[in-house]
Amino acid sequence: EQINKGHYDHYMQKEIHEQPESLTTTMRGRLIRGGSSKSKTVLLGGLKDHLKTIRRSRRIVFIGCGTSYNAALAARPILEELSGVPVTMEIASDLLDRQGPIYREDTAIFVSQSGETADTLLALQYALDNGALCVGITNTVGSAIARNTHCGVHINAGAEIGVASTKAYTSQIVVMAMLALAIGGDTISNEARREAIIDGLFDLPNKVREVLKQDQEMKDLAKLLISEQSLLVFGRGFNYATALEGALKVKEVALMHSEGILAGEMKHGPLALVDENLPIIVLATRDACFSKQQSVIQQLHARKGRLIVMCSKGDAASVCPAESCRIIEVPHVEDCLQPVINIIPLQLLAYHLTVLRGFNVDQPRNLAKSVTTQ
Ligand code: G6P
Repeated sequence: EQINKGHYDHYMQKEIHEQPESLTTTMRGRLIRGGSSKSKTVLLGGLKDHLKTIRRSRRIVFIGCGTSYNAALAARPILEELSGVPVTMEIASDLLDRQGPIYREDTAIFVSQSGETADTLLALQYALDNGALCVGITNTVGSAIARNTHCGVHINAGAEIGVASTKAYTSQIVVMAMLALAIGGDTISNEARREAIIDGLFDLPNKVREVLKQDQEMKDLAKLLISEQSLLVFGRGFNYATALEGALKVKEVALMHSEGILAGEMKHGPLALVDENLPIIVLATRDACFSKQQSVIQQLHARKGRLIVMCSKGDAASVCPAESCRIIEVPHVEDCLQPVINIIPLQLLAYHLTVLRGFNVDQPRNLAKSVTTQ
């Protein structure tokens, strides 16, 4: 066991820190950058015979559980933008509970690290019975979801041992961004955007390396938060998923109540919780929602909220309303890839909180890596 962990104390720690390499493996052979800018393209071998059908679908439905669901949520905006196809989200158990409508004209995309999660597998059977085109995105070659879908993409993140998913999450987002590029096709109107995303993908492992340097900073933040009862994380747009996933990490391993909140819903309930004691992380990196997040920060500050703001490098002064506000500065990348960067400080925070609180990092109580029963 010790050998596999290398010089790390825990698998979760190792898996967080190996993300520059796991992302490189995920993209290997799939991003093509030729001599001229025109030849920048994405190749997903497992999908090539089905791209036309996916483009013509009435809608795309993402289906998954836990972290895999959150990864799909992070990729939803870019898939909508590049494909123009409506994208809806389903938590596998909820789709089954409702027996929600799935049509022959739908493309159902099943996202699962293990490829064996019982609810996702049952939802797959349900979608197959209803005649949808079923696509699998898994980390496990030969898994039930990989075998039973019509086509798919392996994320190639390498084995993930820690129960809390970390490197699989970022690789899933990258695969779904590549999927959006593949489905979107290369029209003149989106050429500049596509190129920027592809260049961003090439550079992503370097940016991940850079953000991982915040390990000590996140340990210091964890020391501050060690005895808290609760933590809120506010995000929106591309980083709504980051809020949910960051909160899920803290909840599942550090055993601290934590809630990811869509910042646009702040006034519809969460604002009542704000006081000078409850720590609140606000995700406010640069994208189309930046000014809205600045206003959220102002409103939380006006109610004496205890703020921790994640912002793009260089923005600390413009987002920080007071000296008491703590800042997490992260490298700026293309907006649809920013969730890959932004989750990493939160993974580190969850990891250090868990160690400091004395809980089992790799095997949190009551949880399993793969939930194969309903
Ligand atoms: C369990 C794991 C989570 C994971 C979820 C979905 O709850 O503890 O880390 O996100 O299952 O698993 P899957 O293998 O389908 O991605």
